[in-house]
Amino acid sequence: MPAVIIVGAQWGDEGKAKVIDLLAERDHYIVRYQGGCNAGHTVVRDGETFKFHLIPSGILYSDKTCIIGPGTVISPEVLEAELQNLAEKKIAMGRLCISPRAHLTLPYHIALDGAKEDSLGEGKIGTTRRGIGPTYEDKVGRIGLRVGDLLLSEEILRSRIQVIADQKNPVLTKAFQLPPIDVEAIMSLCEQYRRIMAPFITDTDEILAQAVEQGENVLLEGAQGTMLDLDHGTYPFVTSSNPTAGGACTGSGLGPKAISRVIGVAKAYTTRVGSGPFPTELFDQAGSHLATVGAEFGTTTGRARRCGWFDAVAMKYSARINGLDGLAITKLDVFDGLEELRLCTGYRNKQTDEVVHSFPSHIEVLEHMEPIYESFPGWQGSVRDVRKFADLPIEAQNFLNRLSQIINVPLSIISVGPERDQTILIEDILPSPKGTSCLVS
Ligand code: IMP
Repeated sequence: MPAVIIVGAQWGDEGKAKVIDLLAERDHYIVRYQGGCNAGHTVVRDGETFKFHLIPSGILYSDKTCIIGPGTVISPEVLEAELQNLAEKKIAMGRLCISPRAHLTLPYHIALDGAKEDSLGEGKIGTTRRGIGPTYEDKVGRIGLRVGDLLLSEEILRSRIQVIADQKNPVLTKAFQLPPIDVEAIMSLCEQYRRIMAPFITDTDEILAQAVEQGENVLLEGAQGTMLDLDHGTYPFVTSSNPTAGGACTGSGLGPKAISRVIGVAKAYTTRVGSGPFPTELFDQAGSHLATVGAEFGTTTGRARRCGWFDAVAMKYSARINGLDGLAITKLDVFDGLEELRLCTGYRNKQTDEVVHSFPSHIEVLEHMEPIYESFPGWQGSVRDVRKFADLPIEAQNFLNRLSQIINVPLSIISVGPERDQTILIEDILPSPKGTSCLVS
């Protein structure tokens, strides 16, 4: 039975949380498979806004199992704050399971993230400074601390931290003038972390394998987006994990045969936070319309997001890398009242005048690209109350149909507002528990 991957198809912040929240109603298991508290999910439920960084947004359903998978990195302090917030709001939360294989973000990772960014000056990545990159660096360097290590004997844990301190202290102190790792201070932090996390640590791979075997619905929720993928994104202006569909398998422990569908979430336009090339970026009136009406400020850092037109060249690439089966297009309502809409269908190299329709592997090439646009008339009035594709203004239908045609992926969901019901479901992605379709369109 289906394991569905929900992947960010652009540079993150595509509105995945709303799509996940919508689908989670009929899922039994919701799995976060990569990234850490660099992500920010906002879910509006019955007028109340919930913000999550680590815990899957499915936790708002008391009958769900939410998993923080092996491919993630976890800041225990952020996790504790989220658990406290849920307790304060008296949410009957679902079951939370944390993989012992997930890595821990420690204070020295956060300090290093900031110090590395500062040392890059103008060339900085624009990270969230949450320690994500340094945590993954230690994972790859085989000197990370994992969630399951918190359950080790004091003696083994201390010797492991000592090895980490021996390797990292020269870098911390000499290269970045940061304080060295104090083994005993980390030991007592670990004790604190153990108290927070121990009730949730369990073998999530096994839970998922059983779920799939029993035909339960599983939703694999990506953080960030395809163009921020460490391997496939706009390197080096990327995050340090794999938000793409391949990362959903390695980051959850489910094999590829368990995956039945991959849905790509994309805004009707494009946004990006942090540095790096962005061919369709706008600096005009239309750009400020998207930023203001779309409330384009980061959930995690509060930074203003850069805004631009929909980039179908990047999206075609994203569709291929992820093997997308369907598109969830969000924030269509942000276009309400615009006279003209644009869709980038190709790039022109400003240096050579060459026209390309494929996404370059190097930012040094991408930087020279200017967008080639198709123009569409906009519409007046609001699409927020529309619930069927055919009831959308014809201008909106034309824009969406053309976008889907260029990317060669069908439209599955259109979001026309922040609330759950402000949605047009074109394709039933999951079977409902009773076998009845909840297709709205
Ligand atoms: P890091 O993930 O904090 O290392 O940041 C690396 C890059 O990814 C920066 O450009 C960040 O702005 C970007 N980034 C990280 N998380 C998100 C997210 O959830 N949404 C959008 N951009 C993100």
